[in-house]
Amino acid sequence: MFTNVKRSFRRRDQEVLALDDVSFEVGEKEFVAIVGPSGCGKTTLLRMAAGLDFPTSGSVRVGDREVSGPGPDRAVVFQQFALFPWKTVEENIAFGLRCRGIDADARSRIVASYVELMGLQGYERAYPQQLSGGMQQRVAIARSYALDPDVLLMDEPFGALDAQTRVVMQEELIKLCRVNPRTALFITHSVEEAVYLADRVVVLTRRPGRIREILDIASVRRREGWDTYERIEEVMDLESFVHLRTRIWRLLRERQEDAAPAGIAVKSA
Ligand SMILES: Nc1ncnc2c1ncn2[C@@H]1O[C@H](COP(=O)(O)OP(=O)(O)O)[C@@H](O)[C@H]1O
Ligand SMILES: [Mg+2]
Repeated sequence: MFTNVKRSFRRRDQEVLALDDVSFEVGEKEFVAIVGPSGCGKTTLLRMAAGLDFPTSGSVRVGDREVSGPGPDRAVVFQQFALFPWKTVEENIAFGLRCRGIDADARSRIVASYVELMGLQGYERAYPQQLSGGMQQRVAIARSYALDPDVLLMDEPFGALDAQTRVVMQEELIKLCRVNPRTALFITHSVEEAVYLADRVVVLTRRPGRIREILDIASVRRREGWDTYERIEEVMDLESFVHLRTRIWRLLRERQEDAAPAGIAVKSA
């Protein structure tokens, strides 16, 4: 998806390098999470995949096409829910389907199935402002899935939710991904969330964002049978989970110490 991507921004008279030489692929039906310190270019990467921003050099492809703008093959879920406040839950989920010219019968079938999958029954006629943050984000996720995109792009979709709601949403998203696997690029600053949800985790360094390491989670998940546990806290207690989490924390911290200002003693390896 990304090949030798660099992105710099002009700030006043300075050129600020946000991303440097980032290359990685997202496989078919693979769920890839990106973690990294704030300001390292995560949102910029996602925006480039969405066609809302472009690399200074390098290339961004989805499928075998260079990304040249937004397209129906990709759906984006942002941290702010970005629902239409004047439309009901049903109408929000159906919106993209209507744009694609899908007929009313098919639309209502698809909407009903995602209402059920995301636990929104009874709220079909409610308006976004009548719903909690968690419920609104369910609607946003249902809307993206209903579009049946080739690629789902999510930028900290649970970032604005309280801790408990967040856990519920993580459990639901993982269930949804099992029933309905999608190619997904998921951004988070939560290491736990990344390890819990992703098949692979891309760890970025602080600005300029470069790839620090890419960890294979799927093979550990399969080997250790994470999916047999119903609850997130059970998975998070497993030694294999803790091990991966600690490794990522180390990778993130390492770089912060490298960048410590002169005069502060940094323990060398
Ligand atoms: N449109 C822009 N103009 C100028 N600088 C930008 C713009 N978008 C992002 N940046 C800068 O690029 C860096 C990466 O930003 P961002 O991708 O939002 O990081 P993250 O999502 O990892 O927190 C930051 O230093 C940010 O200030
Ligand atoms: Mg961001």
